[in-house]
Amino acid sequence: MLLKATLLPFISQAASSSVITGAQQMQQLLQAALPSIGVTLTPVVDATASSSSAVLDISLSFSPPDLPANASLVELPLVIGNVPCQTYNKTSAIVAVDDDGILDLTIATDEALNIRRWLTSRSTVGAVRLSMTALPREIDITTPMGPRIDLREIDGGLLGSASSMVPLPAAPPHQSYNITVCWDLSKAPANTSYASSLGEDRCTEIADKAQTIQALRSSIFAVGPTLHRYPPSSQSPEMSQFGLFYFGDRVHIPFDVTKLADYVHALFVNVCGFFHDSDIRPYRVFLRSSLRGFGGQGFLSSFMLEYFARVEVEQWELEWLLAHEATHNWPLMDSTPGQVSGADNTWYNEGIATYYQLLLPYRFGKTSKVEFVKQLNLNLQAYFTNPTINMSNEEVAEQTWQNSAAQRLPYHRGLLYFLQLEDVLRQSSGGKLGIRSTVLQLLDRKRKGEAFDLDCWISLAGTAIGSITIAKEQNHAMAAGGFLGLPSSALSHFDLRVVVTAQERLELGFDTAPLNSRVISGMIFGSRADEAGIQDGDTIVQTRSMYWQVADNISRNMRLRLTRDGIAFDVSYWPRSREKVPSLQVEDAGFLHGQML
Ligand SMILES: *[C@@H]1O[C@H](CO)[C@@H](O)[C@H](O)[C@H]1NC(C)=O
Ligand SMILES: *[C@@H]1O[C@H](CO)[C@@H](O)[C@H](O)[C@H]1NC(C)=O
Ligand SMILES: *[C@@H]1O[C@H](CO)[C@@H](O)[C@H](O)[C@H]1NC(C)=O
Ligand SMILES: *[C@@H]1O[C@H](CO)[C@@H](O)[C@H](O)[C@H]1NC(C)=O
Ligand SMILES: *[C@@H]1O[C@H](CO)[C@@H](O)[C@H](O)[C@H]1NC(C)=O
Ligand SMILES: *[C@@H]1O[C@H](CO)[C@@H](O)[C@H](O)[C@H]1NC(C)=O
Ligand SMILES: [Zn+2]
Repeated sequence: MLLKATLLPFISQAASSSVITGAQQMQQLLQAALPSIGVTLTPVVDATASSSSAVLDISLSFSPPDLPANASLVELPLVIGNVPCQTYNKTSAIVAVDDDGILDLTIATDEALNIRRWLTSRSTVGAVRLSMTALPREIDITTPMGPRIDLREIDGGLLGSASSMVPLPAAPPHQSYNITVCWDLSKAPANTSYASSLGEDRCTEIADKAQTIQALRSSIFAVGPTLHRYPPSSQSPEMSQFGLFYFGDRVHIPFDVTKLADYVHALFVNVCGFFHDSDIRPYRVFLRSSLRGFGGQGFLSSFMLEYFARVEVEQWELEWLLAHEATHNWPLMDSTPGQVSGADNTWYNEGIATYYQLLLPYRFGKTSKVEFVKQLNLNLQAYFTNPTINMSNEEVAEQTWQNSAAQRLPYHRGLLYFLQLEDVLRQSSGGKLGIRSTVLQLLDRKRKGEAFDLDCWISLAGTAIGSITIAKEQNHAMAAGGFLGLPSSALSHFDLRVVVTAQERLELGFDTAPLNSRVISGMIFGSRADEAGIQDGDTIVQTRSMYWQVADNISRNMRLRLTRDGIAFDVSYWPRSREKVPSLQVEDAGFLHGQML
């Protein structure tokens, strides 16, 4: 999964290790050529309380051009996906001060634009300083899954993305800023550690880059007395290029943290080479425990992996998930303004990550051919057996947070599109060209700060194929949804044959909404869920398989702990229909035994 609008891959940061005092900082802010924003994050950790509690004080200093009364000083979305951002309302209001003293602010919310603005009560004079307290979100088992951007308290520490908690001036999208983010640990226990997507120093500067605001928004911040790093950065300078951060004792994490970190680290180095990325930005993984979730999300040069100890996870599932998230670090498409968010680019961003998540570990010898075929087949079946296969990309985007099946669809639809395109490209170039050169062209555009949207992709793909019309038609067919075909020879360069077959459709057996609301409804009479004894009105107390795990692996059972009339019981059933639907799978063509690609 990917935080769509706010993720920006090609920002590197100059790290400054010096601690800048407030006064120096203010002076520098006034002198700097670029408009500057100074952000200070102060975790307030009360370790003495019986259950420790933590909040995050945020202060923001900047010099707006003297604003008139009733102008927007800063703003923050109301929600991102289905996750509420900090409200900073009466209970914990933003306090603003400028050269004339206290500056009262009024809050104006615009539901249609999904924005909360803090308006000035008078004209501003000189530099403005805002202070506020971000409160960790209170969650329980009914909290729906969504973008992992909210501030959470974890093991007496804090983890969250700036997008949900740092209000910023409304800025034209390509306005450059000089942003400095500093930690202040004066209100936290002595051994408190910290790290963010931006770096691991006390102060980090994001300067002289376009879209600095977006870079800040798509960063994660982690701090706490039990925050740990693997590998420890002190081991060698090379180790500082990659870090996995987790809270608490790693024996409580239900998988092997060090094995996973070593895998991602090695893959990351290879992938950098594959994408011709000489920019040596460190890459960081942040772990967050939750009450039910298991999944990941990409951020700036980093990703967050969410886990729940009771969800059964296999090491390979984690590796594939992380391989997916790591590839989000490179090839990304912008959204087109005015579209349903994600309708035009999610298929690309998730599809290309799924494609490379399969391909790169195989290419770098981290997966055997047998495993590669197994994974490819699981991903193919996930498309053809998805109950929302006939939805258009636009319908999928509208339903993505209400319908778990629709949320998965772009991953596999996008994969099929890229397999189709690769076949067309190979045919038109006598086997010389695949999608890689087109993807690298996208990267070049991004690196130069140029836009990269759907039109741009179609024109690049069209040029590569030698026909814009074919590129457009292929794209429209994919966006419309339904069965997407592949000729049997489409994967012959992998020594694989595509075969037409039929497989059981994914069928939870009840509505997907109860996975959030926790009370079963919409039971399908005669389904396997029905046969397993699930009834309308049963309460889900624990999810032991994630919807996406059963969707992506046709062999997996759905496992739930339910209660009825106060009695708890476990069910495990195969969430698949009795009738089969048309599908494609691949098999080893057996011509090139042992040959690597
Ligand atoms: C950014 O601001 C810092 C201090 O806040 C200053 O030292 C640095 O020179 C500025 N950089 C640019 C590119 O303006
Ligand atoms: C202040 O601005 C808001 C919207 O930005 C507008 O609704 C409101 O009428 C304005 N108030 C005054 C007193 O101008
Ligand atoms: C203030 O925000 C909190 C959540 O941060 C919310 O629970 C509360 O209802 C809000 N109060 C008002 C008056 O909007
Ligand atoms: C900090 O101290 C606490 C309490 O002594 C301990 O539990 C924690 O592991 C320490 N954190 C680190 C990063 O060493
Ligand atoms: C999708 O459309 C095809 C062709 O119209 C139809 O046969 C199939 O049952 C539909 N699938 C679903 C899940 O609605
Ligand atoms: C798929 O699910 C089955 C049954 O839970 C499991 O044995 C298998 O390891 C999973 N993964 C793959 C790649 O087959
Ligand atoms: Zn993704």
